[in-house]
Amino acid sequence: MTSQPSIADENRDKLLSEPGVYGSFVALKVDKTWWLQTTENRATSLDSLSKVFETQTHGVAIDLYLLRGLTENVDFLIRVHSRNLLDNQKFILKVMNSRLGAYLDNVVTINGLTKSAIYLPSFLPELKKIMSQPSDPGPSRNPYVIVIPSLKDPTWWLAEKTDRTEMMREHTAATVEALPKVKRKLYHSTGLGEYDFIAYFETSRLDVFNELVIGLKKVTENRHNEKTTPVLLGTVISEKELLEFLK
Ligand code: HEM
Repeated sequence: MTSQPSIADENRDKLLSEPGVYGSFVALKVDKTWWLQTTENRATSLDSLSKVFETQTHGVAIDLYLLRGLTENVDFLIRVHSRNLLDNQKFILKVMNSRLGAYLDNVVTINGLTKSAIYLPSFLPELKKIMSQPSDPGPSRNPYVIVIPSLKDPTWWLAEKTDRTEMMREHTAATVEALPKVKRKLYHSTGLGEYDFIAYFETSRLDVFNELVIGLKKVTENRHNEKTTPVLLGTVISEKELLEFLK
């Protein structure tokens, strides 16, 4: 289950699948004083957050994740998609300017852009066919989410495209077993912050994900990963579940 669709479904599906879409990952921590507020004060502030979700900008798709308890110093994560980064910013500002916003610390923000596959078109047809199979994150009501930003080393960018393609073929071959259970999405981030990529995953099988990452650590491409933290681990939640958590 993913969080509540925030715009007409066909638009949301397009934003989540097409190239040329900006994704913003905003990790937020709720200030300690929030939990000391009266139930009435909290309810009023949560109404202000509900209004933000109801009146959000057209053409923006929102997903929510609970990180508290699984990732330190972060309570929840908002993923915003739109064709214009400015619209992501407008939505995030609405959250921060709501009454709840006064109690939120913005711990991490990472922005990225979706692109058409760069290396995949050169892979052998068998591998391409395997990669086109849909992945199912599993039957869990709240599948896990894992967000891994990464920064490549200068050698990666200086390598010939044929060499990078071969390294990515090896990377891809190492993922075949996990693919059916791990839904993934890739964002290019170079120049938009301190990272080159944001790799996003949903799965109800963290054991499969663990094996997947072990496999990927053994491929040559991994030598070019300079930084791959902070890893954000949480669960996919709906707007109603977020409001329940903050109640
Ligand atoms: C089910 C698991 C996975 C599959 C099926 C998969 C598959 C792929 C494929 C096919 C590409 C090439 C995309 C293109 O042609 O542009 C790719 C790129 C990439 N993958 Fe994975 N991958 C998986 C897991 C991971 C994991 C766990 C990470 C990081 C922790 C990761 C990080 C990346 C990055 C950063 C790139 C972009 C490289 C570049 O464009 O230079 N992938 N992956």
